[in-house]
Amino acid sequence: MTTMPPNNDKDITPEVISNMSYTDFIAFIKETNRCPGGKKTVRIIAQNAFLTKESHVLEIGSNTGFTSLEIARTVKCRVEGIDINESCIREAQNILDSETKPVRNLVSFSVASAYDIPFSAEIFDLVIVGGATSFMDRKSRAVSEYKRVTKTWGFISVTQLFYATPPPTSVVKSVSSAIGVEIEPWGEERWLNVFTDREHDLELYYYKSYGLNDRPKEHIDEYVGYFIKKPHIQSLSKPVQIAIADKWQNYLAIFNRNHKYLGFFTALLRKRGSPEEPELFMSNDLI
Ligand SMILES: C[S@@+](CC[C@H](N)C(=O)[O-])C[C@H]1O[C@@H](n2cnc3c(N)ncnc32)[C@H](O)[C@@H]1O
Repeated sequence: MTTMPPNNDKDITPEVISNMSYTDFIAFIKETNRCPGGKKTVRIIAQNAFLTKESHVLEIGSNTGFTSLEIARTVKCRVEGIDINESCIREAQNILDSETKPVRNLVSFSVASAYDIPFSAEIFDLVIVGGATSFMDRKSRAVSEYKRVTKTWGFISVTQLFYATPPPTSVVKSVSSAIGVEIEPWGEERWLNVFTDREHDLELYYYKSYGLNDRPKEHIDEYVGYFIKKPHIQSLSKPVQIAIADKWQNYLAIFNRNHKYLGFFTALLRKRGSPEEPELFMSNDLI
């Protein structure tokens, strides 16, 4: 459960900012929280999952709505986004309200948990998961839920950060405490196993992994400056603006240190409708 940040500017003090959780804070500063690879990743998912205007898509952990909106804008199909965090859903709804009518008619956001997805079985052509599973203790329960709501022969896409090189304990500790979640310092194979574990019987249909880099300090400063100039932050008192800049700078410095060790993958997992034979003669160049 999270505490909603105040609606009224005058109730926002440096102390309120300092006590905000990570997810409340990014919703508050209106950061477009993107999956690794951003729009390019969303395009790869949409194309490889064969989405059409008739498709029905669910995004798990939709945060402030980036992926859901991008799918609706490009594919023009129906998209539902769920997230456990109320502030994220409130902000996603604000962004949706300022969208064009055709997109508004296609997308809806609601507060819900991945452990108990509030939809019937077998109704989505694609379930998109971008990083949300990292925030969950009951990963196997969540994957069972992703599978339950996916149509037979439909897809689950997973875009997942992993540690490409083992990180120092201090780095993992500082990220965990920043986002309020105990981060598992897992590598690529361990993370992939969460979704391809035998108990779920999902076919690994598409897989590609990528490296990530940290950013120079000037880029981080510039990025923080961009947020402080946003009108809804400029309208706050100077001490509050300073608290926001400090908190954001601190988060980004922690994430940047962590990025040196990270990679991410995009996987499409398919829900089988009948048993299939293994393939023997395959090229490793095919993805
Ligand atoms: C890193 S963000 C994902 C943002 C974006 N979807 C992406 O592709 O990167 C993870 C989101 O998962 C949400 N989340 C964490 N646990 C959840 C759960 N049990 N059910 C639904 N959403 C959850 C968090 O509130 C957060 O907004």
